Amino acid sequence: MAYIEWEDSFSVGVEIFDNEHKKLIEIINRLHLALLMKETDAVMGKTLKDLIDYTITHFAHEEENMANQTYPDFFKHKKEHDELIKKVQDYKTQIESGKTTISLSIMNFLKDWLMGHILGTDMKYKDFFAGKKLN
Ligand SMILES: [Fe+2]
Ligand SMILES: [Fe+2]
Repeated sequence: MAYIEWEDSFSVGVEIFDNEHKKLIEIINRLHLALLMKETDAVMGKTLKDLIDYTITHFAHEEENMANQTYPDFFKHKKEHDELIKKVQDYKTQIESGKTTISLSIMNFLKDWLMGHILGTDMKYKDFFAGKKLN
């Protein structure tokens, strides 16, 4: 069983964003599996980098559509994105400098980091984006 299993209740009602969220979950699951399999630091580091890179891509995609549609909470949402990226980049720096290693507690942090944002903040745009043409 995967570390995070997608559920229909995670849907924000926008297929392109649901698909991107599924991909983020998939990368976190890969990182979790790498931890269980005791993969090398290099493999873990690469997977964490994949997570950061794809998060940046996904956040930019949401922000582009929010800006295009003049989403009322745009700045608040963007601020949360920026803080989330900073947090995980800080972890990566700590890991690279040998101050910490990927552990189950970091995995739990990443799970809460992603799911808290999707279910809390992203979910708020569900009604706003409903029926709108996004790109
Ligand atoms: Fe999102
Ligand atoms: Fe978001």
